Amino acid sequence: MKIAILASEGAPYCKSGGLGDVMEALPSALAKIKGNQVLLILPYYKKIKENPNYEVEDLGNFEVGVGWRQAYAGIMRLKGRTDGVEVWFVDSEYYFGARPGAIYGDIDDGERFAFFSKACLDAMAIHGWIPDVIQCNDWQTALVPTYLKAMYGHLFPTTRCMFTIHNIEYQGWAGSNFFDDVLYLPWEWRGCLDMNGAVNMMKAAIETADMVTTVSETYARELMYPYYAHGLDSVIANAAWKLTGITNGIDVKTFNPATDPALPANYDKETFIEGKAACKAALQKEVGLPVEPDIPLCVMVTRLAGHKGLDLLCYIARRLLWEEDVQLLILGTGEPHFEAFFRQLAEEFPDRVAAKITFDLGLAARIYAGGDIYLMPSKSEPCGLSQMNAMRYGTVPVVHATGGLRDTVPPADEHGEGGLGFTFQSYNGDDFLASLKRALHLYNEERENFRALQRRAMEQDFSWNKPAKRYMELFKQMLEN
Ligand code: GLC
Repeated sequence: MKIAILASEGAPYCKSGGLGDVMEALPSALAKIKGNQVLLILPYYKKIKENPNYEVEDLGNFEVGVGWRQAYAGIMRLKGRTDGVEVWFVDSEYYFGARPGAIYGDIDDGERFAFFSKACLDAMAIHGWIPDVIQCNDWQTALVPTYLKAMYGHLFPTTRCMFTIHNIEYQGWAGSNFFDDVLYLPWEWRGCLDMNGAVNMMKAAIETADMVTTVSETYARELMYPYYAHGLDSVIANAAWKLTGITNGIDVKTFNPATDPALPANYDKETFIEGKAACKAALQKEVGLPVEPDIPLCVMVTRLAGHKGLDLLCYIARRLLWEEDVQLLILGTGEPHFEAFFRQLAEEFPDRVAAKITFDLGLAARIYAGGDIYLMPSKSEPCGLSQMNAMRYGTVPVVHATGGLRDTVPPADEHGEGGLGFTFQSYNGDDFLASLKRALHLYNEERENFRALQRRAMEQDFSWNKPAKRYMELFKQMLEN
């Protein structure tokens, strides 16, 4: 099957979050399946262009209609990828190459990604790479299914399109004039793009895609409710017949405690007790906490964003530190008030709290390995990858039972039996603290059971094999209809 995957980020070239990780592993997992040809298309951001590790071949250029204008687009084919995935970068000095900033956050992001979505379709048509299916991701490529239906049908007569929601919070809103100034779609598509008098690109994708998926089964159901859907609940409910949740995997090659070069000691499920003890001591030293082998080390690696449940952690933090003998370690950057809170907390409890307000993949790996308990109280979580990373490294998760957290962390009882971690159902600080206390109790009083839970978590299969098969089943279903 010929599969084109379109996205605004993909590791290792460019990544701001979980979408980037998925766009590294999913194409690769699909390319491993016999008979598949996989093409991944990404924007040619400045930092990819300037990275000497990424050698490209120029496949030529063409013009893309953006509103009434014609915009230059070049296609750069990546050389040297060994897993069979063909990677093309869309080159545009104006939209990507000359932008000094990060991936997102420019005032004209809507236009940049509208251009990108159209350029992907043009590029495939021009180069005769006509896919059986296109899989596109989040609002940045949400215009693809609409363009496909509205304008590109004759070029891709049998191509089917799947739209995948990684986070419904970001929908690609624009003013109503965007429809005429940038999109230049036939008039009859106005209603499809319209939401409350403005343009909503994700809404259009949900309506026009042949199938819609999201990144866990629970999140797929949650999206029917206003609490989770950020205004799109009825749009989603109307599309329920073509909506499926497929829980992501993680890249088990990169995230492997037995081989991870970032760790001071490597270990597997047979040797994790000594391995993790060595990693814990080194980590405590690295972040400036007292080296205490028997004080439980609670850790968190996260963007410091509201939906990650940081308000709950802020609410319980002092009580936790007064009532329990614990160490707390946070790594991440984000909203300034959270950064300030954790900095302040670390000053107040210098021997017990460390706050690393930075982005550091190596330290992140050492935290997954050196921690005892991993905190992830997200308010909502489409899938979440770091709870899986934590489990793979033998760190016991304490999570809010929502979205992918609910699907990947079945609840253990107070003796650590029957599940993979500790969960709480309703989003409030006391319930979070209570579940964290169950984890601490198990660590302090029933260490053998705690070990058994760690081992069980390490034995899980979080690879992409299963989800990739599920994507293939849905691709086949699309092609039959
Ligand atoms: C988004 C979601 C996260 C998910 C990731 C990959 O970042 O917030 O829950 O794991 O996408 O699908």
